[in-house]
Amino acid sequence: MTILVTGAAGFIGSYVCRALRARGQAVVGLDNYNDYYEPQLKRDRVAALCADVDIRALDLGDRDGLAALFDEVAPTQVIHLAAQAGVRYSLTHPHAYVDSNLVGFVNLLELCRHRGVQHLVYASSSSVYGDSAVAPFSEDQRVDRPRSLYAATKAANELMAHTYAHLYGLHATGLRFFTVYGPWGRPDMAPLLFSRAVLAGRPIEVFNHGRMRRDFTWIDDIVAGVLGALAHPAQDDPPHRVFNLGNHTPVELERFIGVIEAAAGQPAEKVYKPMQPGDMVETMADTARAKAAFGFEPTTSIETGLPQVVAWCREYFGARA
Ligand SMILES: NC(=O)c1ccc[n+]([C@@H]2O[C@H](COP(=O)([O-])OP(=O)(O)OC[C@H]3O[C@@H](n4cnc5c(N)ncnc54)[C@H](O)[C@@H]3O)[C@@H](O)[C@H]2O)c1
Repeated sequence: MTILVTGAAGFIGSYVCRALRARGQAVVGLDNYNDYYEPQLKRDRVAALCADVDIRALDLGDRDGLAALFDEVAPTQVIHLAAQAGVRYSLTHPHAYVDSNLVGFVNLLELCRHRGVQHLVYASSSSVYGDSAVAPFSEDQRVDRPRSLYAATKAANELMAHTYAHLYGLHATGLRFFTVYGPWGRPDMAPLLFSRAVLAGRPIEVFNHGRMRRDFTWIDDIVAGVLGALAHPAQDDPPHRVFNLGNHTPVELERFIGVIEAAAGQPAEKVYKPMQPGDMVETMADTARAKAAFGFEPTTSIETGLPQVVAWCREYFGARA
């Protein structure tokens, strides 16, 4: 019983690997350690969180390499977290999203199908709600009007997984993550961007003039959701389901910045900017479905979580903040 975790050197992947190992689970990871953000952070993260996991340097686009890995490891379950992430980057680097999120996803689906993987759990995103979003976002809402290519690839993943469930009986579960944060997080996202800037006395860019609300979800709550979903493959026909994994309590950007200022012990220099193309003004998860299916219940507020991010930034980045 070996679980394959893709994107194992990524933010969510490394925590998932750590949690699986803590349960005594056999885990093999893969990651291409790309330079969307500093690969050194990925290496340091792995060393800190899941140094005992065998993580192969492999790209999802390498079909032969991926097939050889499946031959060698014979995973019974796959947790697929590797992707080209980020909304804004998808405006300038569309091909990275097609390569990793579409071609890479098909490569993985094919191997799951042909090698008898019992359950594929894969990352989707709150961004799939796009122009149809009405808070709180429930899984029954339309997801066919994305606001970015990133969101379009995540919505496409859900369609592709559904197709494989329908045609081949592949058990698959898609998880729509809502703005995940924590120590060792993503340096391209607001929690780290803002924490580092405030600590260093640099200005922060506040989009849509601060009129934004985000459902920030603590990493440990997300990991609990991933493992809960893994343990509960769909019994439906076809055996594919999607779930929101969010905090269900959206936070005003100004309050979010206030918590960082308090933790950093200094005020933020705010530069107000218009709305960024592709972004969402508000995200808010309806988590009733995940709660009913596997008891998902996030418990961490930003007042508890964000100071830990600021403290980690201070320690990890130090003078480089
Ligand atoms: N963090 C969030 O708030 C959030 C929100 C919604 C969805 N997601 C999704 O969750 C998943 C994990 O996100 P994360 O925040 O940990 O991102 P991350 O960028 O830290 O992790 C993704 C990892 O995948 C690897 N990777 C990318 N393309 C690859 C490829 N072609 N082959 C092999 N490895 C590849 C990267 O090197 C990286 O280490 C992603 O699918 C992302 O789209 C994240």
